[in-house]
Amino acid sequence: MSAAFKDLIRNRRTVHSFAPGVPPRALIVDAIEAASWAPNHRLTQPWRFYLLGPQTAAAIAQLNAALVTASKGAPAGAAKLERWLGMPGHLVVTCSTSDDPLREREDYAACCCAIQNLQLVLWSEGVGMKWTTGAVVRESRFLELIGADPATESVVGMFWYGYPAEVPRMTRKPIEAILKERP
Ligand SMILES: Cc1cc2nc3c(=O)[nH]c(=O)nc-3n(C[C@H](O)[C@H](O)[C@H](O)COP(=O)(O)O)c2cc1C
Repeated sequence: MSAAFKDLIRNRRTVHSFAPGVPPRALIVDAIEAASWAPNHRLTQPWRFYLLGPQTAAAIAQLNAALVTASKGAPAGAAKLERWLGMPGHLVVTCSTSDDPLREREDYAACCCAIQNLQLVLWSEGVGMKWTTGAVVRESRFLELIGADPATESVVGMFWYGYPAEVPRMTRKPIEAILKERP
């Protein structure tokens, strides 16, 4: 079990291209429930998961395309629109905001723990994800489109999910480069 679990962690990859087909909703909902068992200081449970249907996903793709068109021109915007509309599954994770910077930092950390739980559970089911924090997620219209409350939530990321068409290769620094032992 331990070796298999470590392999799951090592082998999970951010997926950039997906095969056709949307994973079943029940599988995603079950993975979100498992994700919510992530550690979170003071049991704030600061995460909210927005599972988007095609209508909302398309509105977000349009918003993103408008931003890209404004910054890089119409052909780039059209290309992004086509790519985003072609993504199988769409999910957004938000985090509770707070006036207390320490709480906000800890809540963001907790959301990231939950997201990794989610990614690992889905990977174990053959489903890959891509986490994106592009400019569109910081637009107030983005929160409006997903029906989140801008007064109390901020976006941790937007996620595409689906069956990988290709699993990228990836490396990490060797343990000697990241482990500092002290007496
Ligand atoms: C907070 C965060 C934001 C990310 N945003 C993006 C992004 O905007 N675009 C992207 O291609 N990947 C994004 N990624 C995925 C990373 O690029 C990816 O995790 C990294 O390349 C390592 O690959 P791996 O996940 O396969 O190990 C993000 C990851 C994190 C944790």
